Amino acid sequence: MSETLAKQTAQIVPGGASKSLRHESARMHVSGNAAYIDDLPEPQGLLHVVPGLSTKAHARIVSMDLEAVRAVPGVVCVLTAADIPGDNQVSAVGKGDEPLLADGEVCFYGQPIFVVVAESRGVARRAAKLAKIEYEERPAVLNIAQAREAGGVLVWRPLVMSRGDVETGLAAAPRRLSGQVTVGGQEHFYLEGQAALAQPGEEGEMRVWSSTQHPTETQHMVAHCLHVPSNLVTVEVRRMGGAFGGKESQANTPACLAAIAAHATGRAAKMRLDRDDDMMMTGKRHDFVIDYEVGFDDAGNILAVDMVLAARCGWAADLSGPVVDRALFHADNAYFYPDVRFKSEPLKTNTQSNTAYRGFGGPQGIVAAERVIEEIAFATGLDPLDVRVRNVYGTGTRNITPYHMTVEDSIAAEIMAQLAERCDYRQRRQALREANKSSPCIKRGIALTPVKFGISFTATHYNQAGALVHVYTDGSVQVNHGGTEMGQGLHTKMVQIAMREFGLTEDRVRITATTTGKVPNTSATAASSGADLNGMAVLDAVHKIKARLVSFAAEHWKVPEEGVQFLPDGVQVGEQVISFPELTKAAYFARVSLSANGFYKTPKISWNAATGRGRPFYYFAYGAACAEVAVDLLTGENRIERVDILHDAGQSLNPAIDIGQIEGGFVQGAGWLTMEELVWDDTGRLRTHAPSTYKIPACSDRPRIFNVALLEHSPNQEATIFRSKAVGEPPFVHGVAVLQAISDALASLNDYQTCPQLDAPATPEQILRTAERMRQQASH
Ligand code: MTE
Ligand code: MOS
Repeated sequence: MSETLAKQTAQIVPGGASKSLRHESARMHVSGNAAYIDDLPEPQGLLHVVPGLSTKAHARIVSMDLEAVRAVPGVVCVLTAADIPGDNQVSAVGKGDEPLLADGEVCFYGQPIFVVVAESRGVARRAAKLAKIEYEERPAVLNIAQAREAGGVLVWRPLVMSRGDVETGLAAAPRRLSGQVTVGGQEHFYLEGQAALAQPGEEGEMRVWSSTQHPTETQHMVAHCLHVPSNLVTVEVRRMGGAFGGKESQANTPACLAAIAAHATGRAAKMRLDRDDDMMMTGKRHDFVIDYEVGFDDAGNILAVDMVLAARCGWAADLSGPVVDRALFHADNAYFYPDVRFKSEPLKTNTQSNTAYRGFGGPQGIVAAERVIEEIAFATGLDPLDVRVRNVYGTGTRNITPYHMTVEDSIAAEIMAQLAERCDYRQRRQALREANKSSPCIKRGIALTPVKFGISFTATHYNQAGALVHVYTDGSVQVNHGGTEMGQGLHTKMVQIAMREFGLTEDRVRITATTTGKVPNTSATAASSGADLNGMAVLDAVHKIKARLVSFAAEHWKVPEEGVQFLPDGVQVGEQVISFPELTKAAYFARVSLSANGFYKTPKISWNAATGRGRPFYYFAYGAACAEVAVDLLTGENRIERVDILHDAGQSLNPAIDIGQIEGGFVQGAGWLTMEELVWDDTGRLRTHAPSTYKIPACSDRPRIFNVALLEHSPNQEATIFRSKAVGEPPFVHGVAVLQAISDALASLNDYQTCPQLDAPATPEQILRTAERMRQQASH
């Protein structure tokens, strides 16, 4: 980025880019006109691809009889690993441990072994069931406990982060306690399932429409599987019907399967996974078991923290390495630990390959950090909020993270104080405790928790983006960039940047589908960095075009360059105002290029996993949530009565969209910690593979009272796009307030004497189990 660009973004300009423009597809969303992969017009001769899945968690494939499958009328072919023209490999991290189709061995129940390619989806589905596969079973390791027992095979190098001397710190601490917290996984439950449509072209070309967060990676994977160079493969995505991290790496499999079917038959081929197949095949949020030991004093000051964070990663590495790393990066949440050591244990298991999911491991680390706070609060008799505020990152030497990055702008304490004041936390807490005394069945609880979330990909090279902006001679503009739209409003924000810079209205700026043919070598739209990265790339492209227009106008109308300005009602050129189309047309006739690409890379960041040191994040996003719940001790049910959130989106690019992200993130986070539960049986078969058995929050589960506000007057200290802050993932963490509020309600069972140590998800069963334990403790 040029220096002038940095300077221009440093000034905070009202209006334009910070207006709450409605989502570019809002009307299409609500009228059913927004096209997803399965809605695209079907090419002539389209074939349908359905996978055949493993029914063993770990086994050698002794024999495979697919004759009955092939014999079904309408089946065109059945493809196995042997039919893949190139690499049978879709490992997103290049580890080579993720075959596209099982080859001789299956490693989880649900692994694709073959695909049926047929004239209709119904035929393909029925035929797939006729396969006869003989297995020789091998010992399967299904969860963290079993993986540890079996010796703990890891899918990734373990990470150790440390600062100071944790042994000495713990030994010297006046008080010390240890415990364990279990945090469940989570199904993405994007409304549009995994889907891809592949169409063969001339001389080996392959065009793929994919519901992917990472078109470039999908392009590379398809190219490798087909054994062709990347220039023959084009991947396009207009929008996804939700992704939440589940389509960062795992969209590659359906895209590659559709592509090999298209390659084999010379016809277009579509794979649109059934919800059950989707849930059986694809990875989810990692569940964790986190052991902690903490040293503290009577005033609630944390002195030393030691944690081991173990995660169920599944059968392949996928993104588990960076996900588990990010759990460590957030196991401090907003708190300074004088002596600290975190260790990761990314465990290999014979289950779906767990992957990115909103927060990317961060929320799991934060649950542990907040449990530690809660433990100290019960041990000392302090209000947990006081323990939080006391330990928050501050100034001087209390601002270094476990990974040796300096926290330059800790505003967590200020946000917590503001929120506590606004929602009357203290007084309500008192009143609830009083009311609980005379309410034997319904117990109420409240908690106020902060979030500090690091923004940037920890893999430094991902922090780059490109854009391509075209201005046509009629003055209308097309914006392309490397980011993908999954409902989060990224495209809307990108349109706003071009609108503001050119002084145009919404109808003059068109966003187009993301395609590898327009902007190459992109990063996944992930790590909440979509707007930060692509926004700067769009701005860069727009500035290049503007600079050409300015010098042209100055020369053409004989005014100084400073006299040319892009305003909302036209372009000021000296004394006169010229319409934007007038200017672009004149520029075209003078042979001025009206198209430019833009590029951006995040400054300042670095990270060395070997030393556990660096500045992995450009900045932090902050926020706090206060949740009040009611728990029914007869049924274990819980209800969220009221939630107040104060969140820092910097100088928001679009307040309405950002508030939507905060509301949605919160609800998804609360669902994760209270009702969403994944259950595998002893054979490793996932028993919760449809909405009939897997419960996500419904409208009726939203808080009865739900107040969400953006932190005001808080421009990003770093020179991000118009001083905004990333908002996609951090608000997910606000769900932690609900878990802690339920815990607070349960603590009433023994008069707030002991920490309930409530594990997540706090399902009715979990709540009843914990309540029973609390009662037993009380009677001793
Ligand atoms: N919002 C919607 N509506 N749908 C989604 O799939 N994904 C989340 C978040 N918000 C998601 C969403 C995740 S996991 C990320 S990383 C960010 O959006 C990605 O987009 P951004 O970088 O543009 O914020
Ligand atoms: Mo989001 S989990 O980084 O796709």
